[in-house]
Amino acid sequence: MPWRNLLVHVLASLPLLLTAYEYFTGTLPIVLDRHLVIRFGAVGLAFLIASFSITPLSLLTSKTNLKPIRRPLGVYGFCYIALHLLAYAWLSNYLDWALILRDIGERRAMSVGLLAFVLLIPLALTSTNGWQKRLGKRWKVLHRLVYFAVPLSILHYLWLERDIRDWVLVYTVLVIVFFIPRYPAIRRAIARARQGPQLAVRENKDTG
Ligand code: HEM
Repeated sequence: MPWRNLLVHVLASLPLLLTAYEYFTGTLPIVLDRHLVIRFGAVGLAFLIASFSITPLSLLTSKTNLKPIRRPLGVYGFCYIALHLLAYAWLSNYLDWALILRDIGERRAMSVGLLAFVLLIPLALTSTNGWQKRLGKRWKVLHRLVYFAVPLSILHYLWLERDIRDWVLVYTVLVIVFFIPRYPAIRRAIARARQGPQLAVRENKDTG
């Protein structure tokens, strides 16, 4: 297995291992629900954004060997966000659906978070090679849902009533930066700029 993939799997297992360690050593905080909701939400969003960064980073650096980690990063992101929701629904709200629905309806951060999660479901379900083949060109179109899911996730974080917003601001700037190279005109300009030196090297070889 390539070391990059291994690193992704190790990194993704750390938050769960840490939670298990806290459980077995009795060091889990008393306010367990909030602790887990925040931990899983933060990890889920970090993985989601890391996955979103792969295409622009590959375009800018011409490193295609980053691409194989895009999918595991995204799938781990989705799994942690699912755990985030599970902790919210089960530990914070005791699976009281009336309470949960009221909370989602009343707090815009929750409704926008739910919308982001719903958009991620088809992406996670069709993330396998089999589905990619089956859907053909439609797979790429479907996976553009991530262009909505990521900004909505940021909005969810931004709309939580927080005093300190350092991370959300960092994520906002990163996501804007990661959108720029995806814009077709900018993508073409990057490709042209990259072809320039390659063409010059080829021409030098031909004439040399
Ligand atoms: C793609 C979907 C979602 C992502 C990426 C996400 C991510 C996050 C992040 C990053 C935080 C802040 C963690 C921190 O403080 O470091 C958070 C907090 C929170 N999220 Fe989500 N979330 C999503 C969906 C949802 C949904 C659908 C709900 C519930 C309906 C929800 C409930 C909460 C709650 C209650 C908190 C605040 C915990 C607290 O401060 O007490 N999230 N989420």
